[in-house]
Amino acid sequence: MTEQMYGALSDWWPVISPPAEYAEEAALYVDMIRNAARPPVNEVLELGSGGGNNASHMKRHFAMTLVEPADGMRNLSRELNPECEHASGDMRSVRLGRTFDAVFVHDAVMYMITEDDLRAALTTVATHLVPGGVTLVAPDATAETFREDTEQGGGEDVSGRRARYLQWTLPPEAGETTIETHYAFLLREPDGTMRSAHDVHREGLFPRATWLRLFHEVGLTAELAPRSMEGEEYDSFVAFRDV
Ligand SMILES: C[S@@+](CC[C@H](N)C(=O)[O-])C[C@H]1O[C@@H](n2cnc3c(N)ncnc32)[C@H](O)[C@@H]1O
Repeated sequence: MTEQMYGALSDWWPVISPPAEYAEEAALYVDMIRNAARPPVNEVLELGSGGGNNASHMKRHFAMTLVEPADGMRNLSRELNPECEHASGDMRSVRLGRTFDAVFVHDAVMYMITEDDLRAALTTVATHLVPGGVTLVAPDATAETFREDTEQGGGEDVSGRRARYLQWTLPPEAGETTIETHYAFLLREPDGTMRSAHDVHREGLFPRATWLRLFHEVGLTAELAPRSMEGEEYDSFVAFRDV
């Protein structure tokens, strides 16, 4: 793991990206899973659950098991979501030895930078679904929805730590399926000490047709499920394991 945000800076994650900001988005994912599901959904596995921000809202509706490879992020999620089960694992290879009514994969899927990575992650999804189970995979972007973008944000915590960031997502080089997102962080301790960090994340960008082909290859029947958040359109995918 080379991203500082999930390693050396993970302690700052709840300040950079406060859980309360995920309420609306998490409600949308709950609705999308419920509306797509054939048998009712009780048990949900999330792959790449990070600091557990989505889960902190989704857990009111589902019994959630959270898989996250970065120790710092998983520990934050354990504190935020003590009632959820947590496991360490990479979404390309983790095997929990049990199945779930639904599997949810959010922005962590962006770290699948090759088709082989993405196929491996979708195989993990298929392996953990009950027959008839549903998955919702919600990347930040597909090749069709990608746009170069800058975003800013931040927050503060009860101890008085404050953070601000600028996020700059750059377009892929011609013929490439990877993009770079650069983060500039300003991190202010309660005593006023300020430090900065520059973090670079390499992410995958695949056309819808590639996504749908890979779902098919791992034995899942998938369809495009567009989602709309804060006036922006995003692609997501809903897929089923055959009964
Ligand atoms: C932006 S965070 C996820 C935040 C999460 N959506 C939430 O609600 O808190 C992205 C996470 O993806 C995880 N990640 C990166 N590569 C991964 C992989 N191969 N398998 C599983 N998770 C991965 C990182 O460790 C990081 O915690």
